[in-house]
Amino acid sequence: MKPPDPDVWERRFIPDRLTPLPFTPVWAELRPAERLRYNQLHGLYGLEQIIFFEQELIVPLLRRLQPLVRDADLRRSLDVFIAEEQAHSAGFHALLRMLRPAWYAHGWRHFVHPGPVAGAILSAMIRRPRQFPFLLWLVQLLEERTMFASRLFLADESAFPAAIVAAQRQHLADEADHVRWDAALIGQLWHDAPPWVRRLNDRLFSWTLGEFIAVPRRAALRVVDELAADLPGLSVPPARLKAALRTLAGRADFRQSVFGRDSVPRTWKQASTAPDLRCVVSRWLAHEHSP
Ligand SMILES: [Fe+2]
Ligand SMILES: [Fe+2]
Repeated sequence: MKPPDPDVWERRFIPDRLTPLPFTPVWAELRPAERLRYNQLHGLYGLEQIIFFEQELIVPLLRRLQPLVRDADLRRSLDVFIAEEQAHSAGFHALLRMLRPAWYAHGWRHFVHPGPVAGAILSAMIRRPRQFPFLLWLVQLLEERTMFASRLFLADESAFPAAIVAAQRQHLADEADHVRWDAALIGQLWHDAPPWVRRLNDRLFSWTLGEFIAVPRRAALRVVDELAADLPGLSVPPARLKAALRTLAGRADFRQSVFGRDSVPRTWKQASTAPDLRCVVSRWLAHEHSP
């Protein structure tokens, strides 16, 4: 990787609309330098989150699934899928190391720590993909959303360090195939599952989105702690920033911003007509039907 731009910490690391704090009233009370650093720290967390999903969900799930895939072309494509995810994770880690070497020289985890129980549950589900086919919906949703995120970076390139834009461009190029393969995997695994398994998975999927994906908790709150450590004497105390983030769990406009039809159109369409996905569609996707 090329050496970083000298002014790398002068720019944002992620589009503001992909970070939660601007959706709260306290955002207006922060000084410009505080907003910028919040954005940068959340941007680092966002890169970790992509690596986490690639390494702890997508790659192990694909390895487990591959022998079960009936379509020979699709089965072979999973080799490419896995290789590309490994390359993405390595690239994103290199980017993290370049941006903040003190945190990322020896590993990619600073904000993301799923905890032993959640990690063990996730691994147990990944080992049984026929019983937990919602994991494929989760992968597709996350991958389609990362494509949307990459497009936001590319739409405003000069706002971000060049190395971040380059990584997003490469990711976007590869993810289009991934989402196509995800849809094909869902076509087999979800439709093979008995209706009662699908209904149970629908509830698990909806709960997982609320607990781990869509609503700022844990790592998103740790971003505030690091902001306070980087910039002591914040104009808004960290406890108030965290309280503001916690209110987003109940806000439909925030949910809409995370998984709106504009951000995940393919998953939205496929989920709307899939059997036994009523909880997820009504809680996370169908809100756009309402006036
Ligand atoms: Fe990826
Ligand atoms: Fe991917």
